[in-house]
Amino acid sequence: MTQDEMKKKVAEAALAYVKAGTIVGVGTGSTANMFIDALAGMKDEIVGAVASSEATAARLAGHGIPVMDLNEALTRVDSLSVYIDGADEFDPGLNLTKGGGGALTREKIVAAASDSFVCIVDESKKVEHLGAFPLPIEVIPMARELVAAVASKLGGTPVLRSGFTTDNGNLIIDVHGLKVTDARALEDHLNSVPGVVTNGIFSHQGADVVLMGTPSGVETIR
Ligand code: A5P
Repeated sequence: MTQDEMKKKVAEAALAYVKAGTIVGVGTGSTANMFIDALAGMKDEIVGAVASSEATAARLAGHGIPVMDLNEALTRVDSLSVYIDGADEFDPGLNLTKGGGGALTREKIVAAASDSFVCIVDESKKVEHLGAFPLPIEVIPMARELVAAVASKLGGTPVLRSGFTTDNGNLIIDVHGLKVTDARALEDHLNSVPGVVTNGIFSHQGADVVLMGTPSGVETIR
């Protein structure tokens, strides 16, 4: 099975977590795109979807799935029933690294507004410790050098994502070579630096369940 076939299988398996009559949070990236395509078959059963990026909103709308603003959605319901998204890495505690596509802040917001987070990945995303994938940090432009200096002090190599602006008008610094021994502590530490909007460690908003595509089928990890 190719990597794309594995992604398609987990995207389809995630439909089992979508409840009729609810609002669904939808992530960003190639695996999330496959989920959106699968969700199109259920568009008449759900109230709508909240998108974690402009790209996701456009793809949802292209399928005729009603796209709702998060604030509007939360005036109608206390929380979204489920958030479904990919990840760049996951560890055995279901902490994630996200933000390879630069949508980490909106992804974290929509995940936080959801009752559960179903993460859909192929087996290449499984790691013992986060850190092999460069850690994205969304920063307000003025704080670029300040945040880069903090990342260097932590032993990482910060690289500005060139020519890239987030949907929120900010920059992304990708930090290479970080040794992540305590994902939650690192998430909190980086988020405490003024000018950081958020970083790509999802420990507070980690996955409740990971659906992992393997050549022999979909594995459910809790
Ligand atoms: C987007 O900003 C990311 O968090 C994605 O969820 C992550 O990069 C996974 O993307 P793929 O499904 O394309 O691997």
